[in-house]
Amino acid sequence: MKTSLYFSLFLVYFARLPGTYSRVACPLEWVPSQNGESPEGGVIAFSSDEIVARLNISGLLVPARLSPEDGMAYGTLPLDETVHTSNVYDVLTNPSSSCLVTWVDNNDELATNGQQVQVTDSLMIGRTHMVDKDGNFNTVGGTVSEGQLFVAFQSKQEISLDFQAGEFKFFILTSVYPFLSGYLYNFTLHTGHLTPNHVEVIDQETIFHSGFETSQEINHFGTIQEIYQISESPFGWNGINKLTTIFTPGKTPDTFLIENGNNFNLEYTQTREISFKKIIELGPTNQNGVLICSGVNMFQGEVEYEALGRFEGENLSGDEVAKILQASGRAVLNVNGKDAVVKISGVINGKFYSGKVSAISQYEVGQTCEQILKNI
Ligand SMILES: *[C@@H]1O[C@H](CO)[C@@H](O)[C@H](O)[C@H]1NC(C)=O
Ligand SMILES: *[C@@H]1O[C@H](CO)[C@@H](O)[C@H](O)[C@H]1NC(C)=O
Ligand SMILES: *[C@@H]1O[C@H](CO)[C@@H](O)[C@H](O)[C@H]1NC(C)=O
Repeated sequence: MKTSLYFSLFLVYFARLPGTYSRVACPLEWVPSQNGESPEGGVIAFSSDEIVARLNISGLLVPARLSPEDGMAYGTLPLDETVHTSNVYDVLTNPSSSCLVTWVDNNDELATNGQQVQVTDSLMIGRTHMVDKDGNFNTVGGTVSEGQLFVAFQSKQEISLDFQAGEFKFFILTSVYPFLSGYLYNFTLHTGHLTPNHVEVIDQETIFHSGFETSQEINHFGTIQEIYQISESPFGWNGINKLTTIFTPGKTPDTFLIENGNNFNLEYTQTREISFKKIIELGPTNQNGVLICSGVNMFQGEVEYEALGRFEGENLSGDEVAKILQASGRAVLNVNGKDAVVKISGVINGKFYSGKVSAISQYEVGQTCEQILKNI
């Protein structure tokens, strides 16, 4: 007779990774040019008629807007009131077009997490809308410094005054690599030295003795869930937004989406069926019956792992993928056609199965299988 069937599901709390940001900054190239000219292809513009450039003012590099019509570039050095003008300048380009170049709101996360295009340690490139003396709306580019945008407009330096909701609002030029998607395989878990620290009861049953010698067949059955959250140290899936993993050979791969690193959730659940079968002999000494407990030993905590990761990206060659993986600090093992393979390592936080455990004990009121199995 079954007294109860246990199936316990423990809620495991997984700590989130500290604010990892998932994009990788993509470097652009400055090409020297002059007299209104600009290089062929890959040029980045402020507007339909002005190009992103920079001036070298006595060794100090300052963002500028190139007006091909005038043959001149106009630069603004913050708080220096004047507008610097030169027919010799560098033009900003995205030569292989592999960087995603966008103008984002100055409060956007991309603009505050080191993805901005920086001309010097403190100067970035921005643009805003300004209304000229004839009442026309213009898109004007300039220099971002300390949260403000300085533009050369109508021969004067101006601070962008597009003030909304208590903040200066303008756009900052950012450049990031496209996200990669990856396939993780060949996991090696360093579980050798782990001591189980948790027992889960699968099934239990109390048998009362009939007074004669008997033998009884016991069949216990249940399922457990192993839950893993896989993180990558120290890169935290930087630059990656989709991962497929084959964690257990022979099982169907699982696909995980990582959104902006904020919604990190590479969690994997595996159901394992556990069964116990045994014959027990009951004799006169089992007057009060016996309690038969079946369970599993688990390890709950963090385990280190290593795996291989094969990555690719839309419209990217294997070499470009390798460059992105390297830019975020990973060591590339090899490159084939459209993908690149890196070694991935990190920790898996979760609940790991580490063997069955069972016990038969003299029945006593109040005693639980959890206690009995824990003390084995
Ligand atoms: C800027 O100009 C200085 C000389 O004034 C020169 O030494 C330096 O190399 C130039 N920098 C660039 C990036 O062109
Ligand atoms: C998987 O990892 C093992 C070492 O854990 C290694 O010997 C084997 O070559 C790897 N397999 C592949 C496909 O790289
Ligand atoms: C990839 O290339 C195709 C065709 O040129 C284009 O339509 C698509 O937008 C590109 N995707 C990305 C992410 O650049």
